[in-house]
Amino acid sequence: MNFEKTDALKVLAIAGSPRRNGNTDLLLARAIEGATSEKIEVVKIVLTEMCIAPCRHCDGCLPTGRCVVEDDQQNVHQLLRAANRIILASPIFFMGLTAQTKAMIDRCQALWVLKYVLKLPVPYDSKIKRKGLFLSVGGTGFTKLFEPALETVKVFFRVLECEMEPPVVFRRIDEKGDILKHPTALQEAFEAGRRLV
Ligand SMILES: Cc1cc2nc3c(=O)[nH]c(=O)nc-3n(C[C@H](O)[C@H](O)[C@H](O)COP(=O)(O)O)c2cc1C
Repeated sequence: MNFEKTDALKVLAIAGSPRRNGNTDLLLARAIEGATSEKIEVVKIVLTEMCIAPCRHCDGCLPTGRCVVEDDQQNVHQLLRAANRIILASPIFFMGLTAQTKAMIDRCQALWVLKYVLKLPVPYDSKIKRKGLFLSVGGTGFTKLFEPALETVKVFFRVLECEMEPPVVFRRIDEKGDILKHPTALQEAFEAGRRLV
């Protein structure tokens, strides 16, 4: 999987829920709609359908900034480095990101090495300002529901040199499709997607 158009703004949409067509998938779809135009190329990846092992902390990436584990994360690294906009969608599981999302983020340790150890650029094209958007939901109304996940996402976007947009997150969204009953959520996701481009 790769971006194909050379002159388009490249948007990478990452679906991090294991539940297909669930609440964050629906938010992601709307954000993509908001971002879509002729000058945009969107690549969407669904983490639960990919083979991404957890980071082993083998330090194999230390000399080169390249992860030595040969699975789908190699492709994800290419996409993350090529993208000019990254939309990450994950629900809250046990106060954090889903295991699929966290595994993908942890495997970005190789990109962390590139940036902070080897002092090499992470984005392929650093001329275009990069932006990152986080979409999330959780089943409860807990006040601090998104705080732990947001700390992780902030570091993820920092390593990728993406300026983080205001997160679009919703509490008390639990059953599949609950987000459709929310009065403004889908429109908010659409607008956030539109602001990205
Ligand atoms: C394993 C698991 C852990 C969860 N942990 C939390 C949690 O800590 N806080 C919360 O508010 N909701 C929690 N939820 C509820 C989900 O965030 C909620 O169902 C959400 O709508 C799922 O989004 P999705 O449809 O995009 O997968 C959990 C659900 C699962 C399956």
